[in-house]
Amino acid sequence: MKITGKTAVYGIIGHPVKHSLSPLMQTEAFKEAGIDAVYVPFEVEPENLEEAVSGLRALSVKGFNVTVPHKEKVAQLLDFLTEDAEFLGAVNTVKNENGKLTGYNTDAEGFLRSLIEEGVELSEKKVLMFGAGGAARAVGYALLKGGVKFLNIVNRNFSRAKAVAELLSKRGNVLVYPLKESTIDVLLKDADIIVNATSVGMKEDDPPLFDYSKIPEGITVVDIIYNPPETPLLKAAKEKGCRTVNGLGMLVHQGAVAFEVWTGRKAPVKKMREVLERELYGSS
Ligand SMILES: NC(=O)c1ccc[n+]([C@@H]2O[C@H](COP(=O)([O-])OP(=O)(O)OC[C@H]3O[C@@H](n4cnc5c(N)ncnc54)[C@H](OP(=O)(O)O)[C@@H]3O)[C@@H](O)[C@H]2O)c1
Repeated sequence: MKITGKTAVYGIIGHPVKHSLSPLMQTEAFKEAGIDAVYVPFEVEPENLEEAVSGLRALSVKGFNVTVPHKEKVAQLLDFLTEDAEFLGAVNTVKNENGKLTGYNTDAEGFLRSLIEEGVELSEKKVLMFGAGGAARAVGYALLKGGVKFLNIVNRNFSRAKAVAELLSKRGNVLVYPLKESTIDVLLKDADIIVNATSVGMKEDDPPLFDYSKIPEGITVVDIIYNPPETPLLKAAKEKGCRTVNGLGMLVHQGAVAFEVWTGRKAPVKKMREVLERELYGSS
């Protein structure tokens, strides 16, 4: 590509940032849309976050994504927050308009869009979600926004689950339970949708969250993990005739929403997905 004095600069801050797929995805998106812009990774140590944000502002970087471990802290360094970002206390996308920085959280919207794309209906559904980390907060919030009847949260660390439930219960019916087989047996019987928002299933030797042979037949099972594309949870769910959704759609759509925030243009979602599939799974 031809970089000139007019080329807009975007990027991502994180620590570590070198595994991020966003530079690849957003660069391809700008190219596909014919937008004169570059998107680069910025490695930012936690103690340098404030300085880094001031620098990005001063350099008129047009927008940037924020990843682990800066998503919460960065919220305190911005001029404005959207309702989603303020509620979740976490920002993954920043837009710079004449030196004024606005923080967005596109994870929740990205998750919702990925379910809509797959035809998953949320209204009045009963959801069992595993996890209470950063991703689970955004996913749980999105599920409640999508109109689920109630959200049962199970997490290994129970006090972490309680903290998430305290926040999310401002938006709907939320109950928390410990990660205990007998409790999960009961919860499974009343679930229309199961969502895994933990990191269990990323590694081949991860022990299962519960006995997957107990997944009810024909329900919907969502795993926000995108690599591997089919976790043991999703494999077992498929064998039970369930509709399954992995985390690739969430990854693509959180990026697509960021692209739209920055450019005001519709994101080339198909292209963004293709480039990620090729990079992650060697196909498209
Ligand atoms: N598709 C996407 O776009 C997208 C976006 C963000 C994240 N993700 C994926 O979501 C997952 C979670 O990310 P995060 O940022 O929320 O991480 P996090 O804040 O570190 O939370 C990790 C979660 O996994 C649970 N967990 C980890 N190991 C476990 C085990 N052996 N048994 C039971 N629970 C376990 C933790 O439980 P405790 O609280 O008990 O430790 C916690 O609930 C990751 O796999 C990440 O790749 C996907």
